[in-house]
Amino acid sequence: MKTILDIISEHLSEAFVSAGYDGKYGRASVSNRPDLCEFQCNGALAAAKEYKKAPIMIAQDVAGVLKDDDAFDEISAVAPGFLNLRLNGPFLTGYLDRMAADEKFGLTVKDKPDTTVIDYGGPNVAKPLHVGHLRSAIIGEAVKRIMLYMGDEVTGDIHLGDWGLQMGLIMTELRHREPDLPYFDEDFEGEYPSEPPFTLSELEEIYPAASARSKNDEEYKEEAMNDTFLLQQGDRGRSALWKHIMNVSIPDLKKNYEKLNVSFDLWKGESDAKPYIDGMVSMMKDTGLAYESQGALVVDVKEETDSKEMPPCMILKSDGAALYTTTDLATIAERKKLIDPARMVYVADKRQEMHFVQVFRCARKTGVIGEDVKLDFLGFGTMNGADGKPFKTRDGGVMRLEALLDDINEEMYKKIRDNHEVDEDEARATASVVALAAVKYGDLSNQATKDYIFDIDKFTSFEGNTGPYILYTIVRIKSILNKFTGDGGSLEGLEFNTSPVDTEKALMLELIRFNQVIASAYEELAPHKICAYIYDVANAFNRFYHENRILNEENAARKAGFLKLLDLTKRLLETGIDILGFSAPEKM
Ligand code: ARG
Repeated sequence: MKTILDIISEHLSEAFVSAGYDGKYGRASVSNRPDLCEFQCNGALAAAKEYKKAPIMIAQDVAGVLKDDDAFDEISAVAPGFLNLRLNGPFLTGYLDRMAADEKFGLTVKDKPDTTVIDYGGPNVAKPLHVGHLRSAIIGEAVKRIMLYMGDEVTGDIHLGDWGLQMGLIMTELRHREPDLPYFDEDFEGEYPSEPPFTLSELEEIYPAASARSKNDEEYKEEAMNDTFLLQQGDRGRSALWKHIMNVSIPDLKKNYEKLNVSFDLWKGESDAKPYIDGMVSMMKDTGLAYESQGALVVDVKEETDSKEMPPCMILKSDGAALYTTTDLATIAERKKLIDPARMVYVADKRQEMHFVQVFRCARKTGVIGEDVKLDFLGFGTMNGADGKPFKTRDGGVMRLEALLDDINEEMYKKIRDNHEVDEDEARATASVVALAAVKYGDLSNQATKDYIFDIDKFTSFEGNTGPYILYTIVRIKSILNKFTGDGGSLEGLEFNTSPVDTEKALMLELIRFNQVIASAYEELAPHKICAYIYDVANAFNRFYHENRILNEENAARKAGFLKLLDLTKRLLETGIDILGFSAPEKM
């Protein structure tokens, strides 16, 4: 279904042509002065140059033609040459009728889906999840859902960090603590124990200890690098230990992502790229593009137009160990082979931008991937604390994701208890649904690339541009509709009001933007556009709600129109939050 702006523009174009001007000038936009009009067209101003005529005269000519167009109730040509328009009621409700009857509310989905891989989450195994990973999960999940809604075939891959130095550090620390473990005995030929030599909480303590020690102890760090190298070479004991680390960490990660309502189709990691590394490296060497520099293997990725310095992309370290770039390049080869996507989208901290520029350029230059496959990096900013610095715990440590979610759950729970009497269990259950919306909306409502301040008070507020406000609005609508149907009313066969009252029309005008908003959120991988839309809809609804009696409206036809509008508003808001990755409770 065409967007409302396209339809209005078609009417305008025809009018320009009928009045003797080029149709290209008939482009509509949403009015930035809603007090004066709903839509406007500035084409006469541009046309004035071509026709050497005063813009107001052109606007008047076009307005003269539009007088007979029943899409509009009001058309005025105003100085210096604007066309101000108001939509005709039946024309507007005709559009709403078509939206309400359509499964995707008038969104034109892609006729040919793109097979897309989205790489997000990216936690590092055995390191506790911290708030930095929160953004990747939240934004990635929303972008995946936008692409799915638009009709793409999408595979979400968590791309675990499971192959780097942290694995070696854990092994080194473990050897220092328990030198007799069979994993480190080169002569051991038996079966390794099936039980891991640590619990999850031990593992969570081992990594930070090892990481801290490696910072002051050069020899220890060398050991850890050697363990990493041996693991990457397929050493038997270290591979067995690696499996234990994975088996202990992954269930915990799954539990954490589940709480966030984030799910992945693939739980692959850097290590899965291993079988692709050797072939890729020899291909890069064969083409002559990979060369040795100070012992390391590199590929130049500088381009003439670069304004910033662009170091060569490192393929292997001097000891032959794989790097972050190596596994990312080999993962592209792996995805090409196993999925053959038309597009790969990466959601990671924007401070990794250089890494991705290098990887993308290197992949293209060396033929790991063809020009036909789109590679996109969606870099996000930092989540800061009230002090404007990266979010920390009260004592200055790295904030763990679990702790953060517990805090916000608690805060939400208190608010819900204070608001009205509910029993403990119900309040807890509602609090967790609303808290998730608070966190996700707080994040997604900002443009992803920007830093933002994580403000628990603001995010959990029921007023203002927040997740709880959106949910509260949905709950309000649901309770009105439930009351109506509970009293025997039916939502079938209702008709929109073709002569809507002001606040009702304002709400209608917000709703009809749905298809346009989703399409542009998709084009720009921009969930914040959906947040802005549902916020506008919620505001328009609440204004309408405060100015009108709905269930007590005496005019039956008018009441039916109100209810029909409520029903569509609810469905659009629910669809919006579902695309963003959260849901609304029944009561609040
Ligand atoms: N594990 C990485 C980190 O914590 C993020 C991974 C992003 N994805 C990728 N394909 N490099 O920084």
